[in-house]
Amino acid sequence: MSARVFIARDAGAIAVGADEVAAALDAAAKRRGLDIEIVRTGSHGLYFAEPMVEVATPAGRIAYGPVAADDVEALLDAGLLDGRGHRLCLGPTGDIPWLKRQTRLTFARCGVVDPTSLSDYRDHGGMRGLVRAVSLGAEATLKEVEASGLRGRGGAGFPTGRKWRTVAATPAPQKYIVCNADEGDSGTFADRMIMEGDPFALIEGMATAGFAVGADKGYVYVRSEYPHAIAAFETALGAARRGGLLGKDIAGSGFAFDIELRAGAGSYVCGEETALLESLEGKRGQVRARPPLPAHKGLFKQPTVVNNVLSLATTPFILAEGAQAYADIGFGRSRGTMPIQIAGNIKYGGLFETGFGLTLGELVEDIGGGTRSGRPVRAVQVGGPLGAYLPRSQFDTPFDYEAFAALDGLIGHGGIVVFDDTVDMQKQARFAMEFCALESCGKCTPCRIGSTRGVELIDRLASGVNRQETIAILEDLCHTLKYGSLCALGGFTPYPVMSALRHFPEDFGIAPETAVGAK
Ligand SMILES: Cc1cc2nc3c(=O)[nH]c(=O)nc-3n(C[C@H](O)[C@H](O)[C@H](O)COP(=O)(O)O)c2cc1C
Ligand code: SF4
Repeated sequence: MSARVFIARDAGAIAVGADEVAAALDAAAKRRGLDIEIVRTGSHGLYFAEPMVEVATPAGRIAYGPVAADDVEALLDAGLLDGRGHRLCLGPTGDIPWLKRQTRLTFARCGVVDPTSLSDYRDHGGMRGLVRAVSLGAEATLKEVEASGLRGRGGAGFPTGRKWRTVAATPAPQKYIVCNADEGDSGTFADRMIMEGDPFALIEGMATAGFAVGADKGYVYVRSEYPHAIAAFETALGAARRGGLLGKDIAGSGFAFDIELRAGAGSYVCGEETALLESLEGKRGQVRARPPLPAHKGLFKQPTVVNNVLSLATTPFILAEGAQAYADIGFGRSRGTMPIQIAGNIKYGGLFETGFGLTLGELVEDIGGGTRSGRPVRAVQVGGPLGAYLPRSQFDTPFDYEAFAALDGLIGHGGIVVFDDTVDMQKQARFAMEFCALESCGKCTPCRIGSTRGVELIDRLASGVNRQETIAILEDLCHTLKYGSLCALGGFTPYPVMSALRHFPEDFGIAPETAVGAK
């Protein structure tokens, strides 16, 4: 029997040499006459240990990493194929502390299964959720998703079950499921990991949503900067059609569902659900005024579920294990787990799925291991480019939608970007305003004009002229952006700007006692 070796074909792993390692191992095995099968999986999300090589042994998988192509001969000499010791050996994969501390529900199969094989997916529990949904019926499926407490993982945290019910209750000849895989937030990569590492979970989640609301057609809107995810997902779509996960009679239920993948050109605002729908319809990606909600009048004016990849890919677990198994985990109104993506200047960067409620300090210092540069952490931006910059004094904040909202921040798509003490927070504030100016869809005045005026004000602050007066105008502008913008791009840009001013006034040449919010 051939030895089975697992190496990720995930874009993050490829970027640090996974393809070269796989090629070197294949060549070395051929030279040595060794019978090996290299299975290309997704990544477990331990990017600090990629490229990771795992080998199947009678005692389970043994991991090695980070492996370079040059390490392959020495690894084989040391007995890699029997899981023997080597300086790169991390021990049994499941015992690696970074993995062991996680609660992997959405990502349970990622890094484990062959993402091209539907039978491997089934062997690891796939399809059980959809089969149960079909046996329960649409109404009971809606109730399960509602009872799980799952909230949208794209950023807004809206209850997924409530969104599905609205679409189910809206009569129409045609309904759609649209998966938002635009993944524009800085420091985030979880959607990409699912599409590359466990794409059938997303397909099953979309089919389940279609069954629950009465839609027979789904679209995945992905950014064109994700070529590996696009290729992996297209392959999975073909396998799903051949294997009966998509088609005219899914799981013998008579229910029909199919999915089309569409690549957008990569604009941040096209992640906003109504701009996304415009783009899907072939128009310029500009935000639509609400009402009507997409759930009432969405794609091609039909009732549409728009959900993030993670929201959809989590529903197979909820249906398979029952709503309670999901709702039992979490913190406050944030139920279940969050795949947190730890990035930036960080020692142990990667994807860490855990129940809500760990503090920001635990995530950054304990799990992330502090900065990669070895310098003190100064600021952390949570929730993408619209999230607040938080100082160490806020490190006891639990990872929870409400706790971050109370700080005038957000957890967004679960991205954490870490900065050390060399960061210039005035530059970061300027970057936030400039980002808004560059990405603005131009539909509403506060964002279209206000963001450019904001950049000018921050430049004036930097020049040191009339600081207090400039800050007062900037505060007023941020207030207008927050309450006058049509969507959250303009509405949340004040979060990074005002948090930088509030927590790091010295970078703006302001004495702490006169800083924003000091009184
Ligand atoms: C400017 C902007 C960008 C957004 N980008 C994304 C994105 O890349 N991916 C995503 O899932 N949601 C994004 N959203 C949120 C979506 O509008 C929407 O709330 C989400 O797709 C709904 O899915 P969910 O309920 O599963 O989170 C963005 C929102 C705004 C305002
Ligand atoms: S806030 Fe900005 S991105 Fe949003 S609708 Fe207005 S102009 Fe467009």
